[in-house]
This record gives sequence, structure tokens and C-alpha cells, in this order.
Amino acid sequence: QVSWKLADHPTLPKGKTLALIVLDGWGEYKPDEYNCIHVAQTPTMDSLKQGTPEKWRLIRAHGKAVGLPTEDDMGNSEVGHNALGAGRIFAQGAKLVDIALASGKIYEGEGFKYISECFEKGTLHLIGLLSDGGVHSRLDQLQLLLKGASERGAKRIRVHILTDGRDVLDGSSVGFVETLESDLAKLRENGVDARIASGGGRMYVTMDRYENDWDVVKRGWDAQVRGEAPHKFTNAVEAVKKLRENANDQYLPPFVIVDENEKAVGPIEDGDAVVTFNFRADRMVMLAKALEHQDFDKFDRVKIPKIRYAGMLQYDGELKLPGHYLVSPPEIDRTSGEYLVHNGVRTFACSETVKFGHVTFFWNGNRSGYFNPEMEEYAEIPSDVGITFNVQPKMKALEIGEKARDAILSRKFDQVRVNIPNGDMVGHTGDIQATVVACKAADEAVKMIIEAIEQVGGIYVVTADHGNAEDMVKRNKSGQPLYDKSGKLQILTSHTCQPVPIAIGGPGLAAGVRFRNDVPDGGLANVAATVMNLHGYVAPNDYEPTLIEVVNN
Ligand code: 3PG
Ligand code: CO
Repeated sequence: QVSWKLADHPTLPKGKTLALIVLDGWGEYKPDEYNCIHVAQTPTMDSLKQGTPEKWRLIRAHGKAVGLPTEDDMGNSEVGHNALGAGRIFAQGAKLVDIALASGKIYEGEGFKYISECFEKGTLHLIGLLSDGGVHSRLDQLQLLLKGASERGAKRIRVHILTDGRDVLDGSSVGFVETLESDLAKLRENGVDARIASGGGRMYVTMDRYENDWDVVKRGWDAQVRGEAPHKFTNAVEAVKKLRENANDQYLPPFVIVDENEKAVGPIEDGDAVVTFNFRADRMVMLAKALEHQDFDKFDRVKIPKIRYAGMLQYDGELKLPGHYLVSPPEIDRTSGEYLVHNGVRTFACSETVKFGHVTFFWNGNRSGYFNPEMEEYAEIPSDVGITFNVQPKMKALEIGEKARDAILSRKFDQVRVNIPNGDMVGHTGDIQATVVACKAADEAVKMIIEAIEQVGGIYVVTADHGNAEDMVKRNKSGQPLYDKSGKLQILTSHTCQPVPIAIGGPGLAAGVRFRNDVPDGGLANVAATVMNLHGYVAPNDYEPTLIEVVNN
């Protein structure tokens, strides 16, 4: 039985309106021409940094600080917002799958047994992101799963690939497909009929999120399930090379692999097993719904094969989606949002569609919906659909700022929480000029929110979930930009391992509040206890320690 009552903070008052601003993809890095935050005009964020040193610091946002397997793992929004909201560090999907594969437990679980009943007569389909980015999936986990499933009776395997170029360098898809092809060739030598069946770029095929654009999922469905796509190839390496002539990895159009009679080699049929091998939820939930929900009506599926479907993880614990899964997800319980609502803190959360679930679903420990609808309001601003955000780098930053401002001025809420997506979403396009514009727009949104906080005598906390826009090139160990064979600068579309800033302030911040200096390794998970303090409460004992102290002078 959870006791939800939080102890009162010994000195800090309750009832101050608190704005909690998360800049997505906003890390701290040396100021050079590839640091878009440095290049952009960001007077608001600059002034926070140049203000009182006790009210601005850096915190860790990658690797073990956010529950990822190694210190080489860059941060990402899922684990970042989980840590920010939950106040503790949980072993994340990437790590849980590693452990289950290493111990072999993955094959003993209910999920694997469920799908393996199709191995005798049906095909095993594996659908997911093909890269070693470690954000949504990892190639080495797919390789182990292919091996493990074939050793346990899968005789016919079809892989439906989604090319990356977003968590890894653009152009790296070719190498990943080559590696997979050589693995599949080895399986064929051992008598397993294993092939790539279809593919497409992750941002154009299948991996939409938060129901921004169902057409993305439909394009994947047509290729994966129906074996239909505008492009047909007999070989996946050729497919990717050819389609890259007109698009980058993230946006390759859908294709199917066909045999010599132009027949698709691997549509999903009655009696087949399907596994979506991404461990991260946000960009797999929509496909999971299409595969699992009887009454699905977001697009015409045309063909609804009777299959056994399992996710690598269960993607949504509240919706129990999917019902079968290979590895149990992290159990992120007792999040700060749930505590605060129980203690009377009225909460408003807002972002635009592409990041909406970050400040709600991920923030609340991968849980959909409200804890208490009377205490909470979540506002989603529709994102522009069907564009890459470098053409609209301002995105909805000002609209988010306005919504937050109005929520603050309404005085109906104690916490107003937003995610401002620009640095991340535009950073992922690799367009440096556009990312500079994006950072400026994000800064303007922060300004708008802080001004509202000043009007109501409140407090602000400004931080970020991981790095992205502060470094747009791949570098060698000593930090020098790297060039490819043809002398072209290697653009970094992915996140980084840099720390992120956190700043506190506002007229409502009690005198004497400052960052402690005895948590030098503080990370995103330390923010929840900090925020609870600023709402006038002490965090539960097992939360990571607060970053602040109150000194009397
Ligand atoms: C994406 O899904 O867009 C990227 O893989 C990761 O970005 P995010 O973690 O910032 O959402
Ligand atoms: Co990102």
C-alpha cells in the first residue's frame, strides 16, 4: 500500500505557481560553429546561465544516469522524461532486453512461448528499426533474437526493416542492411528460410508517434502485411542504395522484396507470428494497435491476418498493449506526478503532438491518461503533418509558450509543465541553419513563460532531456569535426552524450534557495525531488536527492 502523503518541506512554502520547462535536445557543449545553441540568439537562456551561479548548473542526461546500459549510450527523450518524472533511475528497455537475451530468459517467458507455437507451420516476422542507435532498438539484439528463434524452431523468418539515419549517421543504413543480409545468409545455410521482406525509412514508414500521422503506419502496413509498396526490389541492399538517391535514411519510401515472379516474399499471413523488436514504446504503439485491436479504424487495413503478435516489451502498461511481449518493461511506479496530484498540486502539461506524450506518458512512467482528471489538464497542440521540421523550425514553440502563459495567468494550476521540441526535432534533420532558427524560437518560448511566472510571483525550473542541437557534427576523440571520404562534413543528426543545464528562479523562489554542491554527479533523476521541494514538499526517501538547499544568511 503506497502512502501518497508527502512530508512538508521544513522551510519552503506551498502554493507558488511553478513552471517546469523541458527544452528537448538542448545540451551544453563548447561554443563553436556547429553548436547551434551557441550560434543562435538565445538571450533568455544566456541570462539564466550568466545569472547567479547558485541557480544554474549542469546535470547528467545520458548513460547510466538514465538507466541505459553503458556510458556510451546517448540520452533520449524516453529515458530522460522517465527519469525527470520518476525521480529514480530504472533499468531501461535496452538494458532489460540485453539481460533477458544474455540469460536466455527471453525464450522461457510467456511471450516467446506464445509466438513459437506458430513456428511449425507459420512464418516469424520481425519488424523494427535497423541500427545500433540504442534508442528504439539495437541490431545486436535483433541478431541474437534471430539466432535464438531459429535454434528454437523458427523455420521461416521474414524481417521488415525500418532504416534509421536519426539515431545514427545518415547513410549508415546500407551497412546495417549488409550485416543483416549476411546473418540471414548464414541462417539459410543452416536450413532456415530467412529473408528481408520489406522496408522503408523510419520517419515515413511505420514509426510515427502520438497519432500524429496514421498514413505513416498505413504505408508500413501495406508493405509488411499486404506485400504492397510503390517500390519492388529483389535485394534489400540494392533497394536501400537505389532509394537513397532521392531520400535519406529516415525518409526512404516503402519497398517490398519480390521473387523472380514479382511476388512479395513475405507478406504476413494467417497463422504467422509477428514480433516488433523495438523496445521503446512511443513509435511502436500505433503499429501495435493496428496489429492487435479488433475494432481498429484509423485506416483500412484491407487484410487482417490471424496472427500471434508479441512486442519486444509491453509498450503501454495501462492499455496492456500489446497483450503478449518477450520482456517485461521497467516498472516505473510512484512517479512525482502521481505524488503531487495526491498532495493537491494541480497540474497542467502541454506540448505539440510530436512531443506530447513525453511530458505526459513518459513523464508519468509510461502511463496513458490522467491520475485524477479533476486535478490535471493535458493540452496537445497539433503538430504540422507531412513536413520535415527544418522547413518549419519554429514549430509550435510560441503556441506552447502561449498556452503555458495562459495556464499560469489563469492561476488554476500549481505546476505548468511543457516540452519545447525545437532543438531536438530540427536537430534531427541535420540542417544546421534551421536548427539555429529552432533554438532561437525555443528561447523565445522560455522567455514568454518566465514573464508569466514573474507576473504571478511564481517559480521556474528550466532544464532539458538530453543533448542534440548543441553539437551537429561527428567528432574525433579530441573534438575535431570528422569528414567522410569525399571530404564532406559528417553531420550528426542524433542526440549526444553532453550534460544539460538546469536553472531555477522567479520571484516566488524563497530567499536562500540555491543548488547544493554535494551532488556533483546529479542527473535528470534528481530533478523530481527538487521540484517537490519547490512545491513545498519533501520527496520520498528512495528518490534521488534534491539538487537544492536553503541557506539562511
Ligand atoms: C526519435 O524517436 O525521434 C529519436 O529516435 C529520438 O528522439 P527523442 O528521444 O528526442 O524522442
Ligand atoms: Co530526439
